[in-house]
Amino acid sequence: MHKPNYLEARSRDKRDYQRKDFSFDSRYLEKYKGKTYYIKTYGCQMNEHDSENISALLEKLGFQRVDSYLKADLVLLNTCSIRENAHNKAFGMLGRLKHLKNEKKELIVGLCGCMAQEASVVERILKDYKFVNFVLGTHNMYQLPEVLDQAIVDNSMQIEVFSREGDLYEGLPVVRANSFKAYVNIIYGCNKFCTYCIVPYTRGRERSRRKEDILLEIDQLIQDGYKEITLLGQNVNAYGKDLYDDYNLGDLLEEIALKDIPRIRFMTSHPWDFTDKMIEVIGKYPNIMPSVHLPVQSGSSRILKLMGRRYTRESYLELFHKMKDMIPGVSISTDIIVGFPGEDEEDFLETMSLAKECQFDNAFTFIFSARDDTPACRLEDNTSLEEKENRLQRLNEVVNEGFLNKHKQMIGKTVQVMVEGVSTKKNQYYGYSETNQLINFSSQKKLNVGEIVPVIIEEAKTWSLDGKCSE
Ligand code: 5AD
Ligand code: SF4
Repeated sequence: MHKPNYLEARSRDKRDYQRKDFSFDSRYLEKYKGKTYYIKTYGCQMNEHDSENISALLEKLGFQRVDSYLKADLVLLNTCSIRENAHNKAFGMLGRLKHLKNEKKELIVGLCGCMAQEASVVERILKDYKFVNFVLGTHNMYQLPEVLDQAIVDNSMQIEVFSREGDLYEGLPVVRANSFKAYVNIIYGCNKFCTYCIVPYTRGRERSRRKEDILLEIDQLIQDGYKEITLLGQNVNAYGKDLYDDYNLGDLLEEIALKDIPRIRFMTSHPWDFTDKMIEVIGKYPNIMPSVHLPVQSGSSRILKLMGRRYTRESYLELFHKMKDMIPGVSISTDIIVGFPGEDEEDFLETMSLAKECQFDNAFTFIFSARDDTPACRLEDNTSLEEKENRLQRLNEVVNEGFLNKHKQMIGKTVQVMVEGVSTKKNQYYGYSETNQLINFSSQKKLNVGEIVPVIIEEAKTWSLDGKCSE
């Protein structure tokens, strides 16, 4: 049994880790044939992609996926720690599972993902959710077959959580959620330690995958007919720093862009690590989508300093405008936190003015949520929740108005849309433009998912656009 430890989780040294090839222990192959599983994923794209690996491991064990937890023999929660409400959702689900397990004693319940890395969560599970069969950390995913098997065979709660990153496993099996777009991890973990953020503790230090491994995975995806690849990392812009002297995200993007893949995306980018070479490459290749997620978090340099963000309002704006100049038609989206401890009205107005100046193409806005043991949770915070909610509402009004204005300017223009699905209405489809806007459109011609088609924009809404396929 390994329980999480906060002090270990925050340490960063030059300790070597190894790249290892995953191999599935044949003792477990199909051992649970005939059983079913349900996986509930909370949080970010990293978690979604982890769930694709976890599902594949379960399917190798013989489990078959079902679409409701009520029908499953095994329920796995892949959890998120980023804000209090992500916690609340997972604990709410655990409450429902507790009831279910009273009626269905043989139900197996597992918890993995970021919450598993938190000591306070594991203590709470040990105390109040004793029915949970296993807890598996983010660094322990490859151990799922043996941990699950042991939980079932021994009929005792298993906790396997390494506080520090272990080795980097290549070749985990995967069942992808889509047949035309795929996530590819390029870097794990984060070294930035922004003062509000729990991710460096739950995901460990930055570890890049070897470029050969990434390119091999992408070649296979191309061969399998995938049309869009999203490179994933908590901070993709730090790619390569831990492995190479002279090879970074710009070089990797360039190598991928030269392959026969129509769409390449990447996320998330920390403004600190953006180099001119990266911007140049994004602007140069038409198959690198001109869409950058560049979280600003605050428009006040004073608050940015307290957040440990390593840039000022001015340097963010300089980078923002440089991208607008160097990447034709680029769309820039962002994340913003309001109500950080010590943020006053003046600071908040700076965030409002930055949002007005930037006219972001999308913005995810949050109220600060104190996370256990992060430096920001110890800062004095005199602002009431009511005031924070008011700031969030004012900010949302500004950003939403910006989206609508921008969308209106697109009426009459033609954009390239990758078909993602068919809506319930006849001849109606939806998909995303190159700049990542959701487009609902009609087409007389029958279309397939993954196809890229021209769409004339006819109507603008705040969160989406309506149009007609012009082919
Ligand atoms: N409180 C509120 N928002 C947070 N984020 C990260 N940590 C917190 C927190 N403690 C937001 C940031 C980040 C996004 C993924 O979540 O804006 O960019
Ligand atoms: Fe949530 Fe962050 Fe973990 Fe993703 S990495 S699941 S956003 S805490």
